[in-house]
Parts: sequence; structure tokens; C-alpha cells
Amino acid sequence: MTAEKTESTYEKVVELAKRRGFFWPSFSIYGGEAGFYDYGPLGVMLKDNIIRIWKEAYLRENALLIDTPVLVPRAVFQASGHVDKFLDIAAECDKCHLRQKLETFTKSAGYEEVFDTVESGLSFVRDNVVKCTNCGTRITRVYDVRQMFFLPDQGSSGDLFLRPETAQGIFINFKILNNLFRGKLPMAVAQTGKGFRNEIAPRQSLIRMREFNMCEVEVFVHPEKKFWAEIEYEDDITICPRSSQPVTLNAREAVNSGIISSNAMGYFITLTQQILLKMGISRDRLRFRQHEKNELAHYSFDSWDAEAELDGNWIEITGIADRNDLRNHEKTSGESMSVSTEEGDIVPSVIEPASGVDRIVLSVLMHSLKTRENGYTVLSLPPDVAPYHAAVFPLMKKNGMDQLARKIFRSLSLNDPCVFYDESGSIGKRYARQDEVGTPYCITIDGASLEDGTVTIRERDSAKQIRIAAEELINHGLIGNPSISLDKFKNQPS
Ligand code: GLY
Repeated sequence: MTAEKTESTYEKVVELAKRRGFFWPSFSIYGGEAGFYDYGPLGVMLKDNIIRIWKEAYLRENALLIDTPVLVPRAVFQASGHVDKFLDIAAECDKCHLRQKLETFTKSAGYEEVFDTVESGLSFVRDNVVKCTNCGTRITRVYDVRQMFFLPDQGSSGDLFLRPETAQGIFINFKILNNLFRGKLPMAVAQTGKGFRNEIAPRQSLIRMREFNMCEVEVFVHPEKKFWAEIEYEDDITICPRSSQPVTLNAREAVNSGIISSNAMGYFITLTQQILLKMGISRDRLRFRQHEKNELAHYSFDSWDAEAELDGNWIEITGIADRNDLRNHEKTSGESMSVSTEEGDIVPSVIEPASGVDRIVLSVLMHSLKTRENGYTVLSLPPDVAPYHAAVFPLMKKNGMDQLARKIFRSLSLNDPCVFYDESGSIGKRYARQDEVGTPYCITIDGASLEDGTVTIRERDSAKQIRIAAEELINHGLIGNPSISLDKFKNQPS
């Protein structure tokens, strides 16, 4: 007898995402294209909520928001080092033609090496036996792949590159932005938008895509002080420093003890944790890991990844890098990037919290997925992250319940458009449909509602109900309304 394979959380989420309209592979009627995903109706709402939480957090830091083009002239990425250094060292099996990063093959063979040139990769596969992970043939072919897509020779514009990060659009506008900020430091500038990378082996749906959504902040600080603001938030963080054991500390302790190298790095690590928890990442499945020296990107001196645990693997969802791009742009463009300070003119350093939105969407879905004892699925999303804040149902489509339900739905949705109306199918099925997409409250209009204007409101996670005046919900809203706080449901019968 063969053992039945249990579905992983990832597989459950991908199935749910397609069936209920969060996301699915793009271009499927033409056979699909690896590395591209469409967001459906619920996915757009969830993604936009995640971006909104991020934006609100940075507006509270007085960050400036900008929006710059996705197509960027060669000169910008020549100066940033991306044209010459943003490469993957890849390998292809001579027999089955599997292509992957060379490191994917070498890691499976138990080696820890990291490769940044074709020469180092070739010499490694000459001296060591590295076999294809698919067919076992020895790997001999190593080559490099540019990670940026580009459109060659666009007339007077020359070569144009699709940006692999939104960051450069901020760096090259530094002087304009700093003038708008009245020449002050520190200064934070945020941008959200699409990034593009020519991944050799796109995989795991929203994890490794060729076109993806980013939320990036460039925090310009004095290069010697790297100070943003006092760290007041004392929440414990799981910190994995380079080549040593994990520790649990708050960010201030980690900066004071030298584990985290600057105030600004500590501040934005702890802010990142706050933001990710608010989005629905589980605290016990989140850690911050410092990059090993040999895995740092070409532009960064130090970097910490916020990693989410997904089916036993730790996946980067935000990177916080210490970088120095203004100097490169000053040197190449000839434009001064310096700022006058009390200690003289300086070119600021940059601390950069950069989030992959799609990876956060997938992680939030995976961390929220629960199964009830009866086998039904519940997405325990934070109420203001869920696509819909509430669903409104008439218990039955008769005796005026449906008219009243529609009236209540209209009134609620005037203040909060994220309310869904549904009158089809049994009430149990309607609850189950909403549980599965994370709607925190279901409001049901029944016979008693016609008499006294009250409705039942059912809370998703406990599946318990209370009775409440519809006016109370209409006047005070759904999110943050104390009349429907979780403790109101606690003592109710199941
Ligand atoms: N700008 C950070 C990144 O590209 O990952």
C-alpha cells in the first residue's frame, strides 16, 4: 500500500488562490509563461491592503513618496554597478538541459560555495564532481545570465533597462528631494512599483517571479552616525547574526551590544517587524538573518533579511541593506550629492528596507491558513488586511429579509466599500465561503431583524455570534468597532 502524500500548506494555498481568485499563472490560454502571475479580484484587494499598511507606516516616519519610470537608461545602471555585476552564474546539464543557478546544483551536492564569476564556477566544476539534480550527469557547462531585461538601442535613448529595483529612481533624484526636504538629514524616501528580473529558474508562484511588486525605502543618513531616531519600540526580535547562534533581543539592546551595526539599521529592523506582524506574518515564524559576507549584493556592505518560515524553509520577504549609491552617481554623473551639515559637507549613506510584496502576500496567506475540526478552511487574516471586512446575508430570500439586507449592505458600504453581499446558497455554505477568503465578520438579517433592527454578527475564527443593532455597525463601522471586539464573542455558545 502506498502512503497518501499530504498536501503542503503551499499547495493548499496555491489551490485556494486559483479557485477563489487571489492569484493564478498568467497567459494560461496560451500555455503559460514561467515567472508571471495574475492577481485576481481578492488578490488585488489583499495586495493593496498590504501596500497600504506599508505606506501608512512610512508616512508616519515622514517619508516622502515618489513614483519614477520602470524603463531606465543604461547610464543609471552602469553607475549603480548593475550592468556589470547584476549577473547570475548559471549551469546547464549537457544531457537533460536543466538550467539552474550553479549554486542550486552545488548546494544539492553539499557544497557551500558562492560564485560571482564564470571563471570561479568553471574551475569549481572542474575540480569537484557536481551532478545534475535531475538526471545525475556531471555538470560542466557554466555561463552568466544578465538579471536585467533590456531593450537595445531605443534611438536617441540608447539602451533601456527594465528596472530590477525601484531604488535607483530615488537615488538619482536625491538632490531634488533633499531640497524639497529643506536640505535636512536624515530623510526617508519611499517608492512602490514593479521590478523585473530575468530569473533563470522562476519557481514557487509568487516567490520567484520575473515581474514583481516592490515596496522600497531609501533612508539617507549621516555616513558616520547612521542615526534615524531613538528606538522606542521594545518588542523582542529573533536575530540571527552572521556565523553565530540566534538571539532574542529588542533592537535597542542589539544595537547597544554591537550585534546590529547602527541605530538606523536597528530602527528599521524593528519597524519592519512591526509592519510585517500587522500584515499578518506570524511572530514565531519570522526572523532577521544577517547576510554572510559572500552573499551580499554588489551594492551592499551589510544586510539583514526578514525571513518568513514557509513549510519548513526560511524565505526572504524584506531585505534591509546598508548601501552607498550616492557616491557612485556623484562620480559618474558629475552632479554633487552632498549635503551641508554642522560638521561640513557630506554625501549621505543609505539604509534601505526593501520588501517583496508578492512574497509577503504568499507568506501572509500561508501563515493565516487554518483547518477547522470539520475539515473546512479558514484564513485568519487580520481584519484590515482581509479583502472584505464583512459579508451581509439575508437568512432567506423572502419575507422582506432580502430587501432589508440589501438596505443594510448599502448603508455599510457607503462608509466601507469592502463589504460583500451574498444571498445564494445555504447560510452554512455562505459562512464557509467567507471563512475561506478571510472575511472577519458575517452579518445576517433574519426574522427578528424585521421586528427590531438587530442583526447577528458572526466572528470568523471562533464561529460564534452576537446580536447587535444594525445602526451600531452602520454608525461606528466594522474595523476597530469596540462593540464587535473579540472578547464580545468569547462567552457565546458555539
Ligand atoms: N533594492 C533592493 C533589492 O533590489 O533587493
